[in-house]
Amino acid sequence: MRKISIEQLTPGMILARSLYSSDGKTLLGAGITVSAPFIKRLQKIGIPAVFIKDQLIDDLPLPQVISEEVRNATIKTVRDIFQRVQLAGENKINAKEVKKAVSRLLDEVISNRHILIHMSDIRSHDDYTFGHSVNVAVLSIMTGLAMGYNELQLRDLACGALLHDLGKMLVPLEILNKPGALTDDEFREIQKHSNYGFELIRNQREEFSSLSAHVAFQHHERFDGSGYPRGLKGEGIHEYARIVAIADMYDALVADRVYRKAFLPYQAHEMILAATTHHLDPTIAQSFLQNIAIYPIGSVVQLSSLEIGIVVDVNKLFQTRPVVRLIASTEGQPLTDCVEIDLTRHPTLFINKILTENETNQLLYCTREEQCN
Ligand SMILES: [Fe+2]
Repeated sequence: MRKISIEQLTPGMILARSLYSSDGKTLLGAGITVSAPFIKRLQKIGIPAVFIKDQLIDDLPLPQVISEEVRNATIKTVRDIFQRVQLAGENKINAKEVKKAVSRLLDEVISNRHILIHMSDIRSHDDYTFGHSVNVAVLSIMTGLAMGYNELQLRDLACGALLHDLGKMLVPLEILNKPGALTDDEFREIQKHSNYGFELIRNQREEFSSLSAHVAFQHHERFDGSGYPRGLKGEGIHEYARIVAIADMYDALVADRVYRKAFLPYQAHEMILAATTHHLDPTIAQSFLQNIAIYPIGSVVQLSSLEIGIVVDVNKLFQTRPVVRLIASTEGQPLTDCVEIDLTRHPTLFINKILTENETNQLLYCTREEQCN
């Protein structure tokens, strides 16, 4: 299975993973052969990418920290809660549903904590906020676990992470969905979502911890004091909010947006590291990054030997040294033997670069007949 952007999708390709709407319904099932009208429909509903079957990569399991079922159920819960605030004007959050969703996430993330995170969900542009909230919660829980948090801490953190952007539902839609640059006034309006979210959660003091409310309040504060709403600095920002700020930035970077393509995990990794010089807490960023694959399974890479290979396994302790299955020689000729190289055992061999989607397509489609079957 391989992720491919909608622009690269061509008739005849086979969908490897089902696509769901934010209310949990199946839009298109796995196994369907792609046709031209099908591609048009996906473009119309704002799906930026899909997973397709690929014979070279099909035998590789893509590790999942949470199951498709739990992801869909949690997205639906978030969507229902957010839309009740946005569309029905309710100011009461269904605390029972939030707690149920948090418990489901905790159960799965804790039992899969050894897995290196591969961000692999597909979201339509319209449903971005709901899937993003779930990812931020998962990434935050993983980070909390790496920092030795107990269950109560993880619950409060996850609850705040899941609801961190709830306040956006009170920002006027024409500003929230405005294409193009915002005026200063509009930006100030967007910034109010931190306060709105804080108030919404704090209104239910008996059901939510004030720490969860503070995650919503402080998730745009920056370590160097340049954030909002209060310009808090360093440890003056609650630790949970410092975690969620990192998870929020990372997930936004690796998502396809209307205005730009997703950054690759290794690029997002470097951008997070760079941001630790000013915006993000450097110690927490280390705990965060240790959980996320720099070169996810399925990445097509060029080695320093100029051979091309596919990442087939990752090592949580040595993330820059995955196991690579060679598919093309130094001269670009397809390789017939399935040679796998564990880079931890080849200290003088390095990953030169990750091939772009275009380069990967060209390579896979001209070599596929001769490859490992
Ligand atoms: Fe936000």
